[in-house]
Amino acid sequence: MSVQIDPANADQLRAWDTGEGVFWAEEADLFEHALHRYDEALLRQAGIQDGDRVLDVGCGTGSVTEAAVRLAGSGTALGVDLSSPMLAIAALSAAGSENLAYVQADAQVHPFADGEFDVVLSRTGTMFFADQVAAFKNLRRATRPGGRLALLSWRSAAENEWFLSLTTALRAGRELPSPPPGAPGPFSQADPSAVAEVLTEAGFAKPGFEALDEPMYFGPDVPAAEQFVLGVLGWLLVGLDDETRTRALEALRADLEAHQTAGGVAYASSAWLIGSRAV
Ligand SMILES: C[S@@+](CC[C@H](N)C(=O)[O-])C[C@H]1O[C@@H](n2cnc3c(N)ncnc32)[C@H](O)[C@@H]1O
Repeated sequence: MSVQIDPANADQLRAWDTGEGVFWAEEADLFEHALHRYDEALLRQAGIQDGDRVLDVGCGTGSVTEAAVRLAGSGTALGVDLSSPMLAIAALSAAGSENLAYVQADAQVHPFADGEFDVVLSRTGTMFFADQVAAFKNLRRATRPGGRLALLSWRSAAENEWFLSLTTALRAGRELPSPPPGAPGPFSQADPSAVAEVLTEAGFAKPGFEALDEPMYFGPDVPAAEQFVLGVLGWLLVGLDDETRTRALEALRADLEAHQTAGGVAYASSAWLIGSRAV
């Protein structure tokens, strides 16, 4: 854990570099499949051209970084992430490639060279910064003037059936506190006006927002999906007595069964495709 971070991102480093990140690395195929329906739109927004130098922020296990480097042709792609187990998976397919690289780094403070990138993109990797303005200032500094920014970020929890439905099952009737608006987490970029304020303060042009809705895949069948969901949301069961825990798991299984489709277990999800340029 010698990576240079903003101390305020220490909890995120702990989560992504150990427990949660290890689980994501073990289930890399499932996680990549869960979100891949958004890739075409994200890559379209990124507008990568031959020769571009691309940065993938919070690249995880790297499928988007790989797609980016293919589009960049003679250019390059760099994936940065806090999670060494996820980067280890990403690096497996980068072996031998001269124009694809991965670095364990906190994108909020990493000393990128000024104007090092033509394109900065991220698939659900920019919602966890403790200080959004500082992080996007750092990313702006790393982008050449006129360079493109393309982000995929979740819309609100209320607009994401997968989150609402699964957490309702697992909370077993308990009221759970919601994080304050903007706090680091999956829904911290749900409010377009707040995101626009952050990006313009950081030196990006007024961003555009396109609402996207796609099914999110949780696995081929209920047992696989249950294991996947408990790896991500199992913390909701911590501290429950046996009876409540059994009730929560039954509710989860019933919910997963109700979402079994011919193509696997799938829930509705909704995201913002955010596009801007460095000014
Ligand atoms: C929801 S995952 C998305 C991973 C990947 N982009 C994907 O779509 O599969 C969020 C990722 O952001 C990374 N992350 C969170 N905070 C970060 C930071 N400050 N700097 C770099 N990466 C960060 C996490 O380690 C994690 O891999």
